[in-house]
Amino acid sequence: MPAREIKPNIFSVGAIDWDRRLFDELIPLFDGTSYNAYLIKGTDKTALLDSVDPAKESELVNNLKELNITKIDYLVCHHAEQDHSGTIPKILRIYPEAKVVTNQKCKEMLKDMLLIPDHRFIEVKDRETISLGDKTLDFILAPWVHWPETMLTYLKEDRILFPCDFFGSHLATSDLYVTDEPLAYRSAKRYYAEIMMPFRTSIKKNLEKIKDMPIDIIAPSHGPIHKKPSFIMDAYKDWVSDNVKNEVLIPYVSMHGSTKKMVDYFTEALIKRNIIAKPFNLTATDIGELAMAMVDAATIVIGSPTVLVGPHPNVVYATYLANALRPKAKFASLIGSYGWAGKMAEQITGMLTNLKVEVIEPVIIKGYPKEADFKALDRLADDILRKHMGITGQ
Ligand code: FEO
Repeated sequence: MPAREIKPNIFSVGAIDWDRRLFDELIPLFDGTSYNAYLIKGTDKTALLDSVDPAKESELVNNLKELNITKIDYLVCHHAEQDHSGTIPKILRIYPEAKVVTNQKCKEMLKDMLLIPDHRFIEVKDRETISLGDKTLDFILAPWVHWPETMLTYLKEDRILFPCDFFGSHLATSDLYVTDEPLAYRSAKRYYAEIMMPFRTSIKKNLEKIKDMPIDIIAPSHGPIHKKPSFIMDAYKDWVSDNVKNEVLIPYVSMHGSTKKMVDYFTEALIKRNIIAKPFNLTATDIGELAMAMVDAATIVIGSPTVLVGPHPNVVYATYLANALRPKAKFASLIGSYGWAGKMAEQITGMLTNLKVEVIEPVIIKGYPKEADFKALDRLADDILRKHMGITGQ
């Protein structure tokens, strides 16, 4: 991606990774991603905000050359994860005067992970500022979005917030700014679900910190830049709120059709009660879609056959992820089938220790579902309807 001017003397100098298909060897990237870095030239000093993933270091270096940058005074590191910090050692070699500006926690992480020597750092505290002459960098510590060391920079004079991962999205696009709002919303929501959702409480506090700041532009480190800050800030406010939607997420696996029959019947039972049902066949869906559906759902009902007395391993994986991602669901249950015996219900519910959910009585049946089993699924749908009416009024 070539260097592009955002405002006079403020440039986007990062890289687009069109082909990347997996992040952290875990998260599918259907739309690729970008590693955004920003160069700010003040009348006295020049600052580079973040670097790029090491796979794209030549793009960052070339962009700086293209802009004839011969000196960088400050290399601000908002977040130690290597997709933003990985090229810092290279930049420090090319620009020997540059100092890494970051907070104490991030500094220690960079020393551990990238072996950057102590003398190359300038340590800053919350709301400390650094002047570039006509421009001022105001640092805001924002822990746990999504690591403990994360911080943001507010460029006062230009009213630009650089929040690194916060408000980002894994979206490779040649658009410098958000142009397609539905696409940007979906990408940002997916990113929130996969990366930020476990830190919902911290994000709420960090949103409070910035809510009254005059912000014209939000320039994150992944995905397009927001010229309409309220678009992404309002979306985050909704996602991190305690409000849940009248939705039931049903991640499931079926080996011989019994659990599938239950899921199909149960899905219809929910629809008849005007509840939004979202069944996810775990052999066919991707975890990002599943995570995204967890952002709003009031209830999660896990469907599983019995394998060696316990749940299907794919269901264990999805349950582990659900527990780790800490969605705000308020209710959970389980449906499924066994051949001769099983301890599936205890094992699954025992894995949901992070979730503050009320467990509604599961429907675990022997073999293929029969009349009484369908009645039990209707009972579960009725229970969910009552619970949802109690919290959403729907
Ligand atoms: Fe984009 Fe947490 O790194």
